[in-house]
Amino acid sequence: MKQGLIIMVPAVLILWGASAILQADLLPDEKFVLLPPVNFTIKVTGLAQVLLRWELNPDQKPRSVNPEYHVKINAPQEDDYETRNTESKCVTILHEGFSASVQTILLKDNSLLASSWVSAELKAPPGAPGTSIVNLTCTTNTAADNYVHLRSYQVSLRCTWRVGKDAPEDTQYFLYYRYGSSTEECQEYSKDTLKRNIACWFPRTSIPGKGRDWLAVHVNGSSKLTAIKPFDQLFALHAIDQVNPPLNVTAEIEGTRLTIQWEKPVSAFPMHCFDYEVKIYNIRRGYFQTEKTTINEFVSVIDDISKYCIQVRAAVSSVCRASGLWSQWSRPLYVGNDEQKPLTGWFLIVLMAAVCFLLLMASLLCRICHLWTKLFPPVPAPKNNIKDLFVNTYYEKAGSSETEIEVVSYVEEPVFETLEDSVF
Ligand SMILES: *[C@@H]1O[C@H](CO)[C@@H](O)[C@H](O)[C@H]1NC(C)=O
Ligand SMILES: *[C@@H]1O[C@H](CO)[C@@H](O)[C@H](O)[C@H]1NC(C)=O
Ligand SMILES: *[C@@H]1O[C@H](CO)[C@@H](O)[C@H](O)[C@H]1NC(C)=O
Repeated sequence: MKQGLIIMVPAVLILWGASAILQADLLPDEKFVLLPPVNFTIKVTGLAQVLLRWELNPDQKPRSVNPEYHVKINAPQEDDYETRNTESKCVTILHEGFSASVQTILLKDNSLLASSWVSAELKAPPGAPGTSIVNLTCTTNTAADNYVHLRSYQVSLRCTWRVGKDAPEDTQYFLYYRYGSSTEECQEYSKDTLKRNIACWFPRTSIPGKGRDWLAVHVNGSSKLTAIKPFDQLFALHAIDQVNPPLNVTAEIEGTRLTIQWEKPVSAFPMHCFDYEVKIYNIRRGYFQTEKTTINEFVSVIDDISKYCIQVRAAVSSVCRASGLWSQWSRPLYVGNDEQKPLTGWFLIVLMAAVCFLLLMASLLCRICHLWTKLFPPVPAPKNNIKDLFVNTYYEKAGSSETEIEVVSYVEEPVFETLEDSVF
């Protein structure tokens, strides 16, 4: 135990424990004194991770008390919580140092008794100011794993940063990440013109596709001229996960129905875990319509003959994870027709055809009329109407002109013949 403490060099143990001063009004039993914990230590157990440990004061009387502890994190970010355990794990950035305090607390006769505090701290790691990296950003992306036949996913990680403004030219930076208990060092760096590492790519990581823990990233460095200050950052996976766009987007226009369908993105999350946004761009009118949906299909009623550009994007919905980023839009998909001129051309052709047809019909009708008139006997005055003709005929009959009567009967006969033919 003693050796262990000596190894924990950065952990500075401060014990303020000698006097546990408790207010008299909180303490009905004058003899009862709540003592602060002993041997409070802070140990770095991993990248951006510490373990706080303490013991119940061996002088605490009576021994039967079962107190709780109030832990307060003072730096880098204030926090406080209560626990029954005598140890506590903390995930936190460490490049600015770390300090915490703990006290013994006990609920006795409806009043809360508290001991004095004991504190400990980790000093900030050495390094000249302005030498650590700045503007660290990281993104994760899920890919289907081709090595395994079972459906499995591989999460990749990409981080970029900028060189500290006061970092010497020979500075080299090294990036590490920790997820859970696994820590990995970057193997694929991108470099600036001075060959300093400024980005890192992990094609495969130990991060699970549906991970919820913090991702810790640590970037330290070295230089012959000065100590390079390390830099830590914690990332919430949902906030940096670059979701893939939806797959196999199809769009179809049937009459006035525009039906758009797609498949869920490559992701460890199942189908019901996605929100989608559909963007329909009417190219002729030049306006966007953006719709949200949670299913893999969107149907829109369109009244406009136009060409449309369709894109869909996805995000993991809050049903399955804290809401994060939208994916990129899927590749633009074009449907419909915006060729206005050929359409007017067609319309004109149809119109002309109709006009031609009408003219033809009219001329046909005229011809029939003409034939009709022609079929009537060649009367002295061809322009006479039928009534005149009959008057004439009867007049001729009355006048007993044989020729004329014969012609009339000639006209009438074929009509009757035809009728008789059709009857028999
Ligand atoms: C606290 O640490 C000291 C050495 O620093 C050790 O002798 C002692 O046994 C420890 N106390 C408890 C309760 O573990
Ligand atoms: C880098 O970070 C600093 C402060 O954090 C900010 O002021 C600056 O705009 C950032 N630069 C870029 C290029 O993001
Ligand atoms: C950087 O950090 C890693 C992980 O904590 C450590 O193993 C390595 O020695 C450090 N390198 C430098 C140059 O500080």
